[in-house]
Amino acid sequence: MQFTTRIYLSVCVFFIVATGLSKNTYDVIPLPSHLEEHTGEFHIDNKTRFLVSFKDKEQKRIAGVFVQQVFRSSGIYISVLNKDSFLPTTDYILFKLDTPTVSALNQREAYRMEVEKDKINLSSSGEEGFYYAIQTLLQLMPAEVFSPIKVQGNIHWIVPCCSIEDAPRYIYRGMQLDVCRHFFPVSFIKKYLDLMALHKMNTFHWHLTEDQGWRIEIKKYPRLTIIGSKRKETLIGHAATVPEKYDGKEYSGFYTQAEIKEIVSYARDRFITIIPEIELPGHSLAALAAYPELACTSGPFEVACKWGVFTDVYCPTEKTFEFLDNVLQEVIDLFPGTYIHIGGDECPKESWKKSAFCQQLIKNQSLKNEHELQSYFIKRIEQFLSSKGRKLIGWDEILEGGLSPQATVMSWRGTAGGLEAAREGHDVIMTPSAYCYFDHYQADPKKEPLAIGGYTDLEKVYQFEPTPDSLNAEQAKHILGAQGNVWTEYMLNGKQVEHMVFPRACALSEVVWSPKQERNLASFTERMKQHYRRLEYLDVNAARKTDNAAISSPTKQPEKQER
Ligand code: ACM
Repeated sequence: MQFTTRIYLSVCVFFIVATGLSKNTYDVIPLPSHLEEHTGEFHIDNKTRFLVSFKDKEQKRIAGVFVQQVFRSSGIYISVLNKDSFLPTTDYILFKLDTPTVSALNQREAYRMEVEKDKINLSSSGEEGFYYAIQTLLQLMPAEVFSPIKVQGNIHWIVPCCSIEDAPRYIYRGMQLDVCRHFFPVSFIKKYLDLMALHKMNTFHWHLTEDQGWRIEIKKYPRLTIIGSKRKETLIGHAATVPEKYDGKEYSGFYTQAEIKEIVSYARDRFITIIPEIELPGHSLAALAAYPELACTSGPFEVACKWGVFTDVYCPTEKTFEFLDNVLQEVIDLFPGTYIHIGGDECPKESWKKSAFCQQLIKNQSLKNEHELQSYFIKRIEQFLSSKGRKLIGWDEILEGGLSPQATVMSWRGTAGGLEAAREGHDVIMTPSAYCYFDHYQADPKKEPLAIGGYTDLEKVYQFEPTPDSLNAEQAKHILGAQGNVWTEYMLNGKQVEHMVFPRACALSEVVWSPKQERNLASFTERMKQHYRRLEYLDVNAARKTDNAAISSPTKQPEKQER
């Protein structure tokens, strides 16, 4: 939302009337590492000041996030003042840049909070910590503080007294989104990032290319979006349903480079790094439809209109590597983060088996088979990325046939690939489908919108343990964290994505942030009651176990089907 719109909404004649009694709680999600409840409360009103160092622009900006949210929902205006020139003794919230006192893997993300009756001290050694302190502070306030417009009613704008020491358990706390099977506008991507930030998630894995659509503008190859971002029509219902039926409507969408820059900067303001995914060598039909010369056969190819795995994939020719290097160069120029995701999953080898060129390449490179040819493909890409100072990350299939030690593995087919990778010394992100795939059903399929299959309910996500006991301490250090994956074959719009992602992402946020020994399903369930109210104010279509599929649900339900 634009700031001007927010102001307008705040001052306009419409008010949300608070329903139910406003309640103050310590119901923070994800649960802080250490929270001590005290008696009493700090009152927020027009006398409250937020003190920051004006020498640090970020402090001022982050304080502004809090001030705007409080103003929007309550009409209370907290002024942000320079603590270097004015230090009151009471009625203030203060950012203090401090040497770390809470130990953390990334010290900049840790923070301390002391809420007393007359002041709130927030200290951290980095802006990330201040930002997370603000997220916690907002959650200590009544849920109404998340309202986009002024709330009427008897709300006590207070923060209960407490001491908090907080730092994340993992340095990688991710959410993925597939924007290819279905496309989501910039406004939705921003909402997704806002919701990630609320849950102290710090990595957005943006799945940008697929068989069903190429969604990122690449200036050197305009056909990628002219041709590759459009499909003729889309399958109706589940992929396993026969006979197949199509909707007969063209489907298209892509992000311009200007939009991508805007989103990268929006994410940066929320301390979220974006990992772009450019799929190779498989899941590349949209690119082949645009540039058929990159395949092993002559085509023509069409952007896929149904879901699944397709046999036409990039051919490992020099022309293909030149194309991919050029594409990746533009991607590198857009995304400042270290990692570039190259997919690597589900690459059928049929076309390579039939190709005289591939068979000769296997011989020339002394490779054993097509699996080693895939490994050769990935290594070529890895060399390019590392020559540009970037790191390759890919799905666990990239382990097959050997992998450069610098590559990071995203373990999706269970945790076995991740364990093997960690033992070999690779960094690993755990995203096993049984726990982390939010495209699975989360409740009785008969009452839920159509999904791919599987069953991963909130409790199961909550119980996920990213670092299995079978790893020794040295190997365990390679498990950088975990990520929720959101494949959108069956999610046609943002509301449907929200239904699948929330509240499961809330559970995952606790898995990756909160200390293992503090995690407790009963406590989480209790805290979720208040959190649901926050999500309502944020207009999130979160699922509830009792939901009767809030979104229009297709009639036929599929058999259970794993990816
Ligand atoms: C995947 O789900 N194919 C990574």
